[in-house]
Amino acid sequence: EKGGWPSFMAKEVAEEPEAVANTIRGRVRDGAVVIPELDGLDDLFTGINRIIITACGTASYAGLVGKYALEHWARIPVDVELAHEFRYRDPVIGADTLVVSISQSGETMDTLMAVKYARERGARTLSICNTQGATIPRESDAVVYTHAGPEVAVASTKAFVAQITALLLLGLHVGRVRGSLEDGAASVAELEALPAKLAHVLESEQGHVAQLAGWMADTRSVLFLGRHVGYPIALEGALKLKEISYIHAEGFAAGELKHGPIALIEPGQPVFVIVPSPRHSALIHAKVVSNIQEIRARGARVIVVAEEGDAAVLPFADEVIRIPLAGAFFEPILAVIPLQIFAMALATAKGLDVDQPRNLAKSVTVE
Ligand code: BG6
Repeated sequence: EKGGWPSFMAKEVAEEPEAVANTIRGRVRDGAVVIPELDGLDDLFTGINRIIITACGTASYAGLVGKYALEHWARIPVDVELAHEFRYRDPVIGADTLVVSISQSGETMDTLMAVKYARERGARTLSICNTQGATIPRESDAVVYTHAGPEVAVASTKAFVAQITALLLLGLHVGRVRGSLEDGAASVAELEALPAKLAHVLESEQGHVAQLAGWMADTRSVLFLGRHVGYPIALEGALKLKEISYIHAEGFAAGELKHGPIALIEPGQPVFVIVPSPRHSALIHAKVVSNIQEIRARGARVIVVAEEGDAAVLPFADEVIRIPLAGAFFEPILAVIPLQIFAMALATAKGLDVDQPRNLAKSVTVE
């Protein structure tokens, strides 16, 4: 039931702090991440030399955030591959490979086929899934459930932040097991602070972002730029807009701008830019700020998602959406919320059904 919300999507976005909190619960012990479902399965992480993350759609973008975190904390090579590409291209995999699948429903046929294929080739398999007892976890050697609760709206929101949360937990767990994790306690503190920060973003930016969407109801194209873990968030922001607002949208790695996409910039073109915190890397931050200058000089209408207190973006931004300070790998969970709200508000302004977008199904159970 919608419980007074205008749509399931609105309800599910509002449930994000809870989805993240429930996914963390029971998985922190004495200041370290210990995932009980993985007890006795250390070999899954020590007996391998690479990880392949496979998924479709929104789940694959969560996977990309997971790649950055896993490589950083667990010092193991990670690739992310769309399930339908992975399954049909004769990949090099075997007993030294852990294939991590991500699926809200646990029934997506493309992802299921990739998992089965990996198992047949001797790879180990772990699934991240939101639906207890679904087919993909049953076909996997191990499962880490996200506890987002049932997601009804076709466009994934709370499941996405729960998937990133589960991947961060997995990264910290694997990093600990492999002995490569430094300062795990600080990351655990970051994790535990997330739900309150999510609630803060929902409270402080909802009205502002909805207003922006109202102004932009006639927009025909929106671009999204991000760098580092902001890159998958740019991809997800664009996907949300395509899915429910039927507006052409594209996400780019900000560094790619000069290699092509900047040709798209003409006066009035709306561009969202996810700005990473300067506290994590002054260099990455400076590069993104310089991208903002470049597109602004060509007339783009720049909407920036930046950390509270980041004043460097102010001279070049038409709109600034603020997110609270958070660790580098924790920022994407906060930065995606305004983009979800934007897509939802724009679809609403266009009079569209945000829960049941045309041509899409919640779970695609055919290949
Ligand atoms: C698509 C849905 O068909 O499947 C997306 O419309 C979703 O929202 C994707 O991200 C993957 O679904 P699942 O259930 O495997 O996470």
